[in-house]
Amino acid sequence: MATMNQNAAIKFFLILSFLITSTFSIPSSPDRFIKSALTSLRSPEKPQEYEELTRPLPSDHLTPSCSHVLLRHSFANTINRPPFTTPYTPPSDCTSPPWSYVVLDLRAASSGDQYDRISGLWLGGVELLRTSTAEPSPTGIFWNVRKDVSRYSSLFMRSDLNVTMMLENIVNDVYTGIYHINVTLYFYEFNPIASNPKINGRLEFAESQRSDQSPADLIIPLCDKGKRGFWFMIEDPEEIHSKRIRIPSNTRRIVLELYVSFHGNDEFWYSNPPDSYIHTNNLATGRGNGAFREVFVKIDGKYVGSEVPIPVIFTGGINPLIWEPVVAIGAFNLPSYDMDLTPFLGRLLDGKSHEFSLGVNNGISYWLVDANLHLWLDHGSSNVVARSGHYESPSHHMVRREELEQLDGSFGVEAEVRSEFDGWVKSSEGNLTTSVKSMFNVSNLVSFEKDGAYKRVEQRVETKRIVEVTSESGKPVKRIVHQRSYPLTVITSTLRGFTNDKDMYLLMTNVSHALNEKYSAGEAFTEIYNRQDSDGWMEVEDHNVLAGEASTRQSYSYVDEFSCYSRTIVAGNGEITHDSSSDTCTLSSSS
Ligand SMILES: *[C@@H]1O[C@H](CO)[C@@H](O)[C@H](O)[C@H]1NC(C)=O
Ligand SMILES: *[C@@H]1O[C@H](CO)[C@@H](O)[C@H](O)[C@H]1NC(C)=O
Ligand SMILES: *[C@@H]1O[C@H](CO)[C@@H](O)[C@H](O)[C@H]1NC(C)=O
Ligand SMILES: *[C@@H]1O[C@H](CO)[C@@H](O)[C@H](O)[C@H]1NC(C)=O
Ligand SMILES: *[C@@H]1O[C@H](CO)[C@@H](O)[C@H](O)[C@H]1NC(C)=O
Repeated sequence: MATMNQNAAIKFFLILSFLITSTFSIPSSPDRFIKSALTSLRSPEKPQEYEELTRPLPSDHLTPSCSHVLLRHSFANTINRPPFTTPYTPPSDCTSPPWSYVVLDLRAASSGDQYDRISGLWLGGVELLRTSTAEPSPTGIFWNVRKDVSRYSSLFMRSDLNVTMMLENIVNDVYTGIYHINVTLYFYEFNPIASNPKINGRLEFAESQRSDQSPADLIIPLCDKGKRGFWFMIEDPEEIHSKRIRIPSNTRRIVLELYVSFHGNDEFWYSNPPDSYIHTNNLATGRGNGAFREVFVKIDGKYVGSEVPIPVIFTGGINPLIWEPVVAIGAFNLPSYDMDLTPFLGRLLDGKSHEFSLGVNNGISYWLVDANLHLWLDHGSSNVVARSGHYESPSHHMVRREELEQLDGSFGVEAEVRSEFDGWVKSSEGNLTTSVKSMFNVSNLVSFEKDGAYKRVEQRVETKRIVEVTSESGKPVKRIVHQRSYPLTVITSTLRGFTNDKDMYLLMTNVSHALNEKYSAGEAFTEIYNRQDSDGWMEVEDHNVLAGEASTRQSYSYVDEFSCYSRTIVAGNGEITHDSSSDTCTLSSSS
């Protein structure tokens, strides 16, 4: 008896100490969850609409000249399969182009249990949309994404292209949600700026703005072969993907448009501690390598530009309850990034092919990256002369700070990146010099307290790009300034050991993020302020959300030289409790 008691006591002591250690042995961290069990508790009666807050498109109140179904497909167990592909035919019922405005309309529906999934849509390998799905519920959800795709107009006239959509999904006994997707193009014959009633008398100006933004004559994709989607999958910092591309010798302007999303161990890259933290604490996680990432572009091995991407949070991320039914900024329509490469035409117009490459500084598995090269051709000549001028290779100033005491610590990165290029291009438009200055500042602080149970991530990113075009006599022709700032705060606080089940814990989460943008081209300007503040808690077992509550507040405002729009929305526990919008200009718009 005595021995048994002793044994029992030892066993009890072992269990107790195990509970105590397991209470604190895994640090708090943003993760990816599925809300299966919970939604069946909450279950609304009819399918619910999800949305990403954005502004109405100028075409929303107009009738399209024609519409054209790009694809209708249900993505079930598509994992490890090739993408869905179907031939593209230009719309036959539209009076002959040029149409002036094209809208891509994606409608999606799903029901059951499913993780969020990433998806890419391409036409002839040119990416048109990067999107992610919302996590469904048993009664079903649906959503609509509308995107102005006028800049891809030159592709829509071609009949030798395939439409491709990649959406890898798993459907089995556990994950039952199938994603049903319809994509339609709507073609409009109007000038959205000139058709705006508020701008009578300013048509001349609107026209000049439109010509500045007129779609490229040719778009060449910088992409993979397409067997697993046209994106390149990048799994480590050394991995660089390249494609040899020949640029037509009458190209007078070139802009690279970058598409990027991050997954796996880098889904929350902005919250990753350095490897020293993981090794010191013997953690099993692969989410490391610090919190600084930079996607870069090279031509013939030479750096030509880079971006620190906007930290888009997918609907299973951090706390899935926060993203119903209003998803995170960019989740349905991930932003793309433009880089003006015109200063490099001097190297590219030699009739030979050149190596364009993409990579991710510090990136770990995995990133999905590709790019579109938008080319404007000189119709008045078959030969354009160009020379690259000043090339200031990017200066990276980076300071990392590290304080570490077992599971507590703080890790800071401050980075400033600048680059400057110029070059002249002589075409039938004259001899124009383009100078591109880009700079960005990043500050990131990841800190752990309470034996790792409390984690706070603060990131600030500010970017500025200035493109100036001057004539041979030095007269300014065009000046474009594009600024973005995207601050982010994520707090995750874990409470373990409140039940005997060591896999079950409570997670308190706060997320605040914003995407603010200022764009100006001469007198034309656009300003967008978009901010989301959320908090919530959830009870989690493994990656399943069992119970919880969440609320989100978002305000969006848009101003350009002709119009204003603003909207505020509040959602709590899956329902919208406040939604107001206005198109009156309350702030006097200054130009
Ligand atoms: C797609 O289109 C078909 C045919 O019009 C329609 O029955 C289906 O409900 C649509 N699906 C979605 C997700 O909108
Ligand atoms: C379009 O897809 C089909 C079927 O996958 C393929 O045989 C064809 O070569 C593709 N066409 C182009 C232009 O890529
Ligand atoms: C970056 O920070 C420096 C000073 O630290 C400031 O002068 C500069 O304007 C900032 N750049 C951007 C793009 O915010
Ligand atoms: C174009 O202009 C630049 C300076 O603005 C000059 O250096 C260059 O020689 C000019 N090119 C031609 C072909 O005239
Ligand atoms: C996090 O959200 C909770 C509400 O759930 C709030 O009480 C708390 O102040 C927030 N914390 C921070 C640091 O914003």
